[in-house]
Amino acid sequence: MTDQVATNVHWHDGDITREDRARLIQQRGATLWFTGLSGSGKSSVAVALEQRLYEMGHLSYRLDGDNIRLGINKNLGFSAEDRAENIRRIGEIAKLFADTGVITLSSFISPYRQDRDRVREIHESADLTFIEVFVDCPLEEAEKRDPKGLYKKARAGEIKNFTGIDDPYEAPLAPEIHLHTAAMSVEQEVDTVIDYLQQHGYLRAPQ
Ligand code: ADX
Repeated sequence: MTDQVATNVHWHDGDITREDRARLIQQRGATLWFTGLSGSGKSSVAVALEQRLYEMGHLSYRLDGDNIRLGINKNLGFSAEDRAENIRRIGEIAKLFADTGVITLSSFISPYRQDRDRVREIHESADLTFIEVFVDCPLEEAEKRDPKGLYKKARAGEIKNFTGIDDPYEAPLAPEIHLHTAAMSVEQEVDTVIDYLQQHGYLRAPQ
């Protein structure tokens, strides 16, 4: 847990509420949290989902591991402690985006259950929707795909603490959505997520 360092700081509410924003942009925010091994297909499904949502008239925004690690989290590596801080910061950013009304698509390995559960907790305690999507791909398949050549390097000992090789991945125990990416097309994955969002009323326009 990260402790509060600054003292004498207080939350300040504005006059425009989350509901006001939702009516203005005609949608409610939510965070879809894609978790899975490197190369499992998290970014691919998020990119395709963003496109589909756009075509349906919904505003979404992607937060993606590699991109975020080139910017706000450029000072973090892959120790358990740095991964926890990576996920904590992204969790807070996703929460802000969801609060604005944006459907936030977060794609991070996020290998530790506890870190993901904390992100869920910060959303739920703010009454924001958090949907965990397990992008489930067997290690052998992710390693076969190896889109960035990183598994090869990890097997050769050139990268240490690589998730799935010499670092753990803790699969979600009860994800809201479970995608088996070795057996589904990206289109089918997008359909599955859209069906879930529609069935739960998350895409219904606020009155
Ligand atoms: S997380 O574990 O902290 O959630 P994140 O999703 O931000 O990871 O970043 C993972 C990406 O960083 C991978 O897709 C891969 O491109 C790259 N990477 C570099 N080193 C590692 C490593 N040791 N373990 C996992 N991914 C790594």
